[in-house]
Amino acid sequence: MADETEKGLARGLTNYGDKDFSLYLRRSFAKAMGFTSESLEKPIVGIADTASSYNNCHRNVPEQIEAVKRGVLAAGGLPMVFPTVSLAETFLHPTSMLYRNLMSMDTEEMISAQPMDAAVVVGGCDKTVPAQLMGAISANRPAVQLITGPMMTARHEGERLGACTDCRRFWAMYRAGELNDQQIVAVESRLATTAGTCPVMGTASTMACIAETLGMALPGTAAIPAVHADRLRAAEESGKRAVEIARSGLTPDKVVTEKSVENALRVLLAIGGSTNGIIHLTAIAGRAGVNVSLDRLNEISDETPVLVNLKPSGDHYMEDFFAGGGLGAVLREIKHLLHLDTLSITGETLGDRLNEDPGFIDPDIVRPFAEPHYPLGGLVSLFGTLAPNGAILKRAAADDALFESEGRAVVFSSPADMAERIDDPDLDVEPNDFIVLQNAGPKSGYGMPECGYLPIPGKLARAGVKDIVRISDARMSGTAYGTIILHVSPEAADGGPLGLVRNGDRIRLSVKERRFDLLVSEEEMAKRRAEWTPVEAEPRGYAKLYQDHVLQAEDGCDFDFLRAV
Ligand code: FES
Repeated sequence: MADETEKGLARGLTNYGDKDFSLYLRRSFAKAMGFTSESLEKPIVGIADTASSYNNCHRNVPEQIEAVKRGVLAAGGLPMVFPTVSLAETFLHPTSMLYRNLMSMDTEEMISAQPMDAAVVVGGCDKTVPAQLMGAISANRPAVQLITGPMMTARHEGERLGACTDCRRFWAMYRAGELNDQQIVAVESRLATTAGTCPVMGTASTMACIAETLGMALPGTAAIPAVHADRLRAAEESGKRAVEIARSGLTPDKVVTEKSVENALRVLLAIGGSTNGIIHLTAIAGRAGVNVSLDRLNEISDETPVLVNLKPSGDHYMEDFFAGGGLGAVLREIKHLLHLDTLSITGETLGDRLNEDPGFIDPDIVRPFAEPHYPLGGLVSLFGTLAPNGAILKRAAADDALFESEGRAVVFSSPADMAERIDDPDLDVEPNDFIVLQNAGPKSGYGMPECGYLPIPGKLARAGVKDIVRISDARMSGTAYGTIILHVSPEAADGGPLGLVRNGDRIRLSVKERRFDLLVSEEEMAKRRAEWTPVEAEPRGYAKLYQDHVLQAEDGCDFDFLRAV
């Protein structure tokens, strides 16, 4: 454990049995990089660099880091850039979620083990911001979260496109035979055309808003587009602020509290945020010793309407959100529901921030509280015999015609089974059936991938079916749309009832009652439980650590040895 009374280069000395020798040696090796004695006396700001050729969403990280350095130097600090793991959604097998905790551990350990008085962590793609916040909170050294920002939209044949709600829409059209091979290749080249994160209210944008609401990112910075000059100004300000909190000692434990977490939960609902947001917020809060309850989510969800009219549940994109008032406009509309005495890394309270002039707000993009985009919170948790510890439905992105329904189960035993059979013309499936995917949860070996947006079976898609109840212990992309029940807990691979569902069972869904039940007798379930066999154990390495220690969705899928609750 480093001695927190030590500062600058003298922090956490390498142990050679002689402290003075250790500092002399460290200074000598630092001088090998050209630093002067004067520079080495300054407060040190570590900057976590997540640029990678495997991460398109972080394409602008190098120029952001240059701007952070400018801010650090201007404020009298010494910037020191260090690499960490970088996670991009589409480049990781089997899923980036498997590596979020690894990145959080890397971030925590490198902040703790290296001499720095504060850190600026630069991230944007879905798992990077939660991983960095989890790591920074556990390290509990003054830290600023800098977001890479959303990408800009592009055009295809006169139509505006943005990843990845439109990725899915066009893919569904291609599957239904409405686009040919040439057309889908043209779309593929136009979905993601600039640096930055997906430009809808997907997981990356949701986490950016959560980071700002928690107080860990500078006010007004969540929605700035990746390529906008304001993004560089935000980076410079973040560097400057990092030096100030290095001096004042404003640590994350003073910022991320029960109240700021509840504010973030409200914002998650008011922005129509991603279902992944609840898992990540739970994990972030858990590092600060704060519990997020799914029952409390339901209470808050009924009081907090969706105000942001952004895809996938609305019409606009993140660049419109930025121009239309951004997160500040949302916070003002729900001010009466927020804890205003929470502190941000600026040292200001949320109340102080919201007393300032709001500037221009576009009411079509950030709706007034009295005229919301959707009258209730975007997410709701469900409980029942099929999910004793809970499940999540994004009601704002679903067809409410299916909210009170009962159907016959059509079961897939794993993502591989689903990929093999979902388009089989002989699949026994009807439009009113419930599609069930098993063994896609945290311990399944698949790492809880974003495959909960189960495709409409090919034969139903071709017949024009647009939505069907889909149930799994997987997650789904924040950019997806449909009546999709996710994060079922306990998961099938952990012996949960989801793994005992069989073809032809009846399942009843009642969103009104927050229930979700498998209509099979207890006697029959006991028989199936006795016949159940666990998934194969991972033999070695990180996959084994993950399977042995990952917690279920209601605990944020963090490792049991990392949570502080
Ligand atoms: Fe990085 Fe969507 S792929 S945010």
